[in-house]
Order: sequence, then C-alpha cells, then structure tokens
Amino acid sequence: MKKGTILSGMRPTGKLHLGNYLTLRNWVKLQEVYSCNFPIVDWHALTTGYEHTDELPVLIREMALDWLAAGVDPKKSTVFVQSQVKQHAELHLILSMVTPLGWLERCPTYKEQLRQMSDREIQTYGFLGYPVLMASDILLYMADTVPVGQDQLPHLELAREMARRFNFLYGDTLVEPDALLNNVPLLPGTDGRKMSKSYGNYIALSDEPDTVAKSISQMVTDPARIRKTDPGHPDICTVYAYYSAFFPEMVGQVRSECEGAQIGCVACKKRLAASMLEMLAPIHERRVKLASDPSVVDEILAEGSARAREKAEATMKKVRAAMHLA
Ligand code: TRP
Ligand code: SF4
Repeated sequence: MKKGTILSGMRPTGKLHLGNYLTLRNWVKLQEVYSCNFPIVDWHALTTGYEHTDELPVLIREMALDWLAAGVDPKKSTVFVQSQVKQHAELHLILSMVTPLGWLERCPTYKEQLRQMSDREIQTYGFLGYPVLMASDILLYMADTVPVGQDQLPHLELAREMARRFNFLYGDTLVEPDALLNNVPLLPGTDGRKMSKSYGNYIALSDEPDTVAKSISQMVTDPARIRKTDPGHPDICTVYAYYSAFFPEMVGQVRSECEGAQIGCVACKKRLAASMLEMLAPIHERRVKLASDPSVVDEILAEGSARAREKAEATMKKVRAAMHLA
C-alpha cells in the first residue's frame, strides 16, 4: 500500500533543462513510495501564452519524452495531459464560484507576474484564476501531498483554503493537501545568472553530448582565479554548483583541490563534463528510443489520461452530489 497520493505538474515549455531535471529526479523517487499523478498542464500554459498555441502539441510531446526518459514510469504513476481530462475545467468552474476575488488579487505570484510580464496582455480572467486551476488539479485527485518549490507555496495555500471553504459550505468532500517542499538545489545558469530559457544559459536534458561538454567548458568560474596557482573559491563558482547538485560525493575533493590550487578550472570542468555525460547517457538512450516511434508516447499519454479521467470523475461525482448538482 502506498503512503499517500501525490499530484504535481509542469507547464509544457518543451525540452527540460538540468534545473528541471532535479525536480524530475525527485518525482522518480517519490513514485516508489506514493501513488503519483503527473499532469502536463497545458491549460495553465494558456494563462500567459494564449496567443500562440500552434506549438503546444510539440511542447507537450517533448516534455513527455523528457519525463519518461528521466525515469517517470507510466506503470507506477499516472502521467497525463490536463486538457484531456475535462473534469479539471468543471472543478475549476465550481471552485471559481466559492473563491473570493481578494484571495486571488492578493496572491503574491499574481502581483509579481503582472509586473514582470508587462509586455504581455495578461490582465485576463484566466490568468487571475491560475491558482483556481491549480487547486482543481490537486483537489480532483484527492492528493494529500504536493511536491513543489518555494515559489509555488502561495498557490498551495490557496488550494488548501479552497478545499476548506468547499468543505465548510457543502460538507466534508475534498482533501486539504500538504506541501512537500522539495529540497531541490537552485541550479544557476551556465553564465552564473538565474537559469532561464530567455537567457539561453541552460543545458537541456536532451542536449547532445558535444553540446553538454561545450556548455560546461564555457561555464563561468571564480572570476578572481586567473592562474592555476591562485586558490579558488568554489562557493562562488558555477561549476561547483553543478558538482554539488549532481555529484555530492565529489564535492569534498573538488573543494580541496580548488582551494588548494591543485587543479585548474579547465581540468575541473572536463571532469564535471565526463561525469555529467555518464549520468545523461542512459537518459539519452531512452529518449532516442521513445522518440523513434511517436505512437508510443501518444499511447502512454492517452492511457494515462484515461486513468486520470476515472479518478477525476469519481471525485466529481462526490462534488456534484455534495452540491445537489446532477
Ligand atoms: N504552477 C506550477 C508551476 O508553475 C505548475 C502546476 C500546475 C502545478 N498545477 C499544479 C504544480 C499542481 C503542482 C500541483 O510550477
Ligand atoms: Fe570552479 Fe573548479 Fe575552477 Fe574551482 S577549480 S573555480 S570549483 S571550476
């Protein structure tokens, strides 16, 4: 018997980078212990990207390939596409009725994103309702545990409040979920800035070995370290951050060799690249195999979505009954 029920999703942004892989690696571990539901949340992508939808099918596919290649196992977990389970829309509508506007307007992520994306027209009803849609994802599967990063905590708090409010109004029906804060290290981009698709400073999980090696060779290091004989400062070095995220067993050695000026940055990067390529090899192999026959991923997502629909419909039956809806 599994420990509890998890739901966590990602917006289909296409190929994942190594920072996302740290999150995925966590999911792969969790699926051994919990009953897991992992949607690719394409309706969420519309909240900020409703104008251009032609790429969506490709983006969903690329994301599914990365998930599966990284070890998310469709036999153990329910892997699906949000828009293939219409019950998300139904619960979204119902929760929107009981969610005070103030909760959404006060949400810190809402205010921040409005400011950040001032170039896009996102003063929409759908964007304001982002947390309502996210609460629907979670509550629809009666998830008790939601692995998320720090940035998603306000959304999770709102999901809890919506569950409580629903239960207060209509009787005990929905499960109030707990956040499982993932202690995933924050991985900097190759240039030391925040890793971001718009900066182009990331290594994709599916990058060719040559590309990975090249990106690592160009990573910024301790800027004060000019000669090999200068002692380095690993704590401000991007290369070191990658070691500590992916190869914690090596950081002791890297640190002492760096601080003791026993290794040059070029050699240090070469060693990181070698370890990274070894780690990525089986993932690449699985990805190439999966990508060779498009129907395989399509089938996995269709099957997962069918299973998700069953679970979602079971919840909706309870929700409708509690509200005296047909
Ligand atoms: N908002 C999440 C993010 O941007 C994605 C998401 C949508 C999600 N629905 C979810 C995460 C439900 C956890 C649970 O990362
Ligand atoms: Fe960074 Fe390694 Fe150079 Fe030290 S030796 S500054 S850890 S790349």
